Amino acid sequence: MKISGVPYRTIWPVESGAVRVIDQSRLPFELVTLDLATLEDAARAIKTMVVRGAPLIGATAAYGLALALRADASDRRIEEAARILLATRPTAVNLAWALARVRSVIAHLEPGRRFQAAFREAGKICDADVEQCRSIGVHGLEIIRRLAKPSRRRVNILTHCNAGWLACVDWGTALAPIYMAHDAGIPVHVWVDETRPRNQGASLTAYELGAHGVPHTVIVDNLGGLLMQRGEVDCVIVGSDRTTACGDVCNKVGTYLKALAAKDNDVPFYAALPVSTIDWSLDSGRDIEIEERSAAEVTSVIGRTAAGEVASVRVVPEASAALNLAFDVTPARLVTGIITERGVCAAGREGLLDLYPEQRRSA
Ligand code: MRU
Repeated sequence: MKISGVPYRTIWPVESGAVRVIDQSRLPFELVTLDLATLEDAARAIKTMVVRGAPLIGATAAYGLALALRADASDRRIEEAARILLATRPTAVNLAWALARVRSVIAHLEPGRRFQAAFREAGKICDADVEQCRSIGVHGLEIIRRLAKPSRRRVNILTHCNAGWLACVDWGTALAPIYMAHDAGIPVHVWVDETRPRNQGASLTAYELGAHGVPHTVIVDNLGGLLMQRGEVDCVIVGSDRTTACGDVCNKVGTYLKALAAKDNDVPFYAALPVSTIDWSLDSGRDIEIEERSAAEVTSVIGRTAAGEVASVRVVPEASAALNLAFDVTPARLVTGIITERGVCAAGREGLLDLYPEQRRSA
């Protein structure tokens, strides 16, 4: 997607042999890139959320594994690098998926050929992610088109967290259909949940929608229910960090409450995700490991002061405890449909297997 007319991906290889990423910890205040030259650089970027969002975490981990093998591509080094990367963030399954994919390509190669092959495979993962997100956009566009039809009026879509191109390599998952609808001349407007504690909605989703010229309004996380009661939300589209084989959708904390409100108000609720986000090994969302992050993310907020300085300010009494569980699970029964690169399906085992029949063998 473009920022000020310049096309960007979120991650790309550069001539020095490093991998360049947009430093998302600096957005929306500054657009800054950072070069990742080593395994440690990649692991730190994922852990500190310089890069974040399930598909981008997977892509960065794939490059991180490749970078680890530049000087030592032994079996032991592969093990060690995969362990370090896997430990960075536990919930997004794309991380484990991407590492397994790179490992399967290099496992039987001579050590001397592994670095190049791993780097090439990481590039393929990125290209495939772009294509998958584009397809998610095409399928999701039809949903928005149908909602726009009756009166040709503005379609109001609510989204939570950031599931746009910044969370992926390009296009995004939940936002791809919105970009395509906007580009097709359908009047769309997005209610952007600010998404406490790290405010990925207020800082990242608002930033990228603004850069593309999509009308949007940032709302506090708790307003969505009232807007739905007032008929001001036509559908909800969110991304996912891990979706089980039975269609339970794990996503940024707060998503479940939006799904409950949507159900109560007959508002369709969609999750948009590529195949790399489906964890075929799990049936129930209860078995997904939910990342617990630092309480400091709850007790403080980061923002820019009137003097232009980016600062962190405390909003909780010093003596109060805080709990920061980063994700929740929306049960399949609350999900109207799952938008994937292969089409839209019912949230459930049969729906997903219809789209991915190759998984029936192992199901
Ligand atoms: O903790 P983050 O910022 O890495 O959270 C992941 C997300 O961006 C969201 O949960 C998103 O909705 C799903 S990933 C496309």
